[in-house]
Amino acid sequence: MPRGLLITLEGLDGSGKTTQAQRLARWLTRRGIEPMLVRQPGGTATGDRIRAILLDSRSTHLAPMTEMALMFADRAQAIAEVIQPGLDAGKIVVCDRFTDSTEAYQGGGRELGSAAVLELHRLICGNLQPDLTLLLLPGLEASLARARRRNGRVEEQAGIDEGRFEAEQDAFYQRVWKKYREIAVREPDRVVLIEGDLGIDEVHEQIAEAVAERLVLQEQTA
Ligand code: TMP
Repeated sequence: MPRGLLITLEGLDGSGKTTQAQRLARWLTRRGIEPMLVRQPGGTATGDRIRAILLDSRSTHLAPMTEMALMFADRAQAIAEVIQPGLDAGKIVVCDRFTDSTEAYQGGGRELGSAAVLELHRLICGNLQPDLTLLLLPGLEASLARARRRNGRVEEQAGIDEGRFEAEQDAFYQRVWKKYREIAVREPDRVVLIEGDLGIDEVHEQIAEAVAERLVLQEQTA
């Protein structure tokens, strides 16, 4: 059986990538492909518990290395439990965030550097590489305002506090943004950069086009 495809969605908080991951899943379903949708951190029962520690703003004084180690602990579990079995079964796995997030947020935002992240990825994740990464980078200010509004609403309605990252200063997010762009420039074959304040439909069209191209390529090489 041919290996499936790993498609990741990346971007700043509030960039709309979760909405786009769901739209992409529906687009694939309409084409007769039943994708697996996974998110990080989270996506497994253990991962959801790790997510709660990572995102809850009551997790005060979390050391940057602890944060990075927890992100990789979550990813190792998701790969073992969901992603690798899915790929082995020939599935298309759509993952809402993957190691580019760790490189951007912990490597860039927390200034741990790319080398440590990439080394841990080799060691812990067997260097599993996405076949295609869709990187959404709308304007920094608009994304942050959206993310902070959304978290306020979630906390009010469900009593879940996922605001630890959104409480970071803008300088942190500028470093995250810069690192994301650096990754896109370094790996243009894998990363499709979708920039600017585009509408949901426009972003979806660009995503669908990139995925369609990748699916044709896969058929040709099968
Ligand atoms: P989400 O809201 O898109 O699910 O992401 C949760 C937060 O976790 C978001 O602020 C980005 C952050 N994050 C990291 O800092 N490093 C990582 O490796 C991942 C996967 C997420």
